[in-house]
Amino acid sequence: MDKPDPQFTGDIVIFGILGDLGRRKLLPALFQLDAAKLIHTDCRIIGAAIDELSVDSFEQQIRENLKTFIPEEIDDSSINRFIQRFSYQQLDFTNINAFDLLAKLVNQNSSTRIYYFSTPPSIYGDICNGLNSAQLISENDRVVIEKPIGNCLKSSQIINEQVSRFFDENQIYRIDHYLGKETVLNLLVLRFANSLFTTNWDRNCIDHVQITIAESVGIEGRWGFYDKAGQMRDMVQNHLLQILSLLAMEPPASLNANSIRDEKLKVLKALRPINRLNINEKTVRGQYTSGYLDGKPVPGYQSEEDATINSSTETFVAIKAEIDNWRWSGVPFYLRTGKRMPVKQSEVVVQFKQQPHNIFKDNYNKLPANKLTIRLQPDEGVELQMMNKIPGISPQMNIQQNTLDLNFSDAYHNKRVIEAYERLLLEVINGNQSLFVRRDEVEAAWQWTDSIIDAWQMTNDLPEGYAAGTWGPVSSFSLIARDDRHWVK
Ligand code: BG6
Repeated sequence: MDKPDPQFTGDIVIFGILGDLGRRKLLPALFQLDAAKLIHTDCRIIGAAIDELSVDSFEQQIRENLKTFIPEEIDDSSINRFIQRFSYQQLDFTNINAFDLLAKLVNQNSSTRIYYFSTPPSIYGDICNGLNSAQLISENDRVVIEKPIGNCLKSSQIINEQVSRFFDENQIYRIDHYLGKETVLNLLVLRFANSLFTTNWDRNCIDHVQITIAESVGIEGRWGFYDKAGQMRDMVQNHLLQILSLLAMEPPASLNANSIRDEKLKVLKALRPINRLNINEKTVRGQYTSGYLDGKPVPGYQSEEDATINSSTETFVAIKAEIDNWRWSGVPFYLRTGKRMPVKQSEVVVQFKQQPHNIFKDNYNKLPANKLTIRLQPDEGVELQMMNKIPGISPQMNIQQNTLDLNFSDAYHNKRVIEAYERLLLEVINGNQSLFVRRDEVEAAWQWTDSIIDAWQMTNDLPEGYAAGTWGPVSSFSLIARDDRHWVK
């Protein structure tokens, strides 16, 4: 891991520390960074939330929380040391005057603070106003905001506006937690540290690309949020489009944040629009019905806890995306994501083109093309399918398709898989914005997905059903089969 920023000795203030994200992700991630000595000893963490809590019961909650959400054994002395960094402030985020209480707690001498808004975006504006009125914003401070940043271009602009009234773009860290995943980060290394892929990464060599993020979970009691969002806003607008842009972007000049983000933005802007004229040909949306997962029956979407009947929200999306530029002309990127699919699995498949001429046709009528599979999660790794001669003496040349498999857990045993939030929090501490999404990227992504959502609404068609525990609606198979191709799984 990277070295800590020796400069950063300021306070980290987490608004909404006791919410789901705070408890499941932020506290465990900060604990791991602390245990790895990646946070300066002077750095304090202030948790703010609406609940009235004594210091003892706040500390007790942290203790229990760490034990629940960190899979490895952790000893009490590390927990005690971690807890020493904490203060707690009960705060009504919508009451501007209440922020004076926070001002008393924050170290007024530190030149940089990190504010993490782990709250619904609807109160980002209130928090900014409160911080401003208590004179808690300086030009060195950093603010971390979470998705969803709006539910369309317009609402994202409003949220971004509220924050950027007080913070410059170079102070704002927009999280897409997929960018903190080791294997997503590895896409940069795979593409730009291996000349084999750098030189063959275009329309001349690649037939098509598939990006699948399959989840076996349903909506886990989140009906209120999810039914308004759907899989398009929840997964495609952010995670899938971020992966697509890392895969398709031109080589950035350096690892500098804006170098990378400039190139990603160009990809998002070059996505061919999908609208009511081509919506049926380019997209499929589905909704799960009851089915079986791991041999157990599971309810359909319409029967989930808190469900309202007749929801037309999609829980599955497949899209044929096309990028209108020199590199990718004629190379489709097939995107697919859904809830209640048979397994949790995220992977990228890069299907290379076939050889133009087959000299082995006497023994191998049709030579399969090379295929690169990047397993993002779980079972992280990279595999390359290639042809090989079967060793041995025989009158004819016997050849076979084999796989070169770089399995990360075998190759880097002993290495714990770093959680996305550990990496992302460390990058905020280090003041590096490369793994965070810039405002124009968010807006370009919304622009493309808004047009699809609008077109769906205009057609009035309902999402197609698929049984829980299957790979999505039948039409998602026709979407790719129409091009004489098939999903790898
Ligand atoms: C979140 C979505 O952004 O990503 C969830 O809101 C989804 O619906 C989750 O389940 C998937 O993340 P991961 O890291 O488990 O693949």
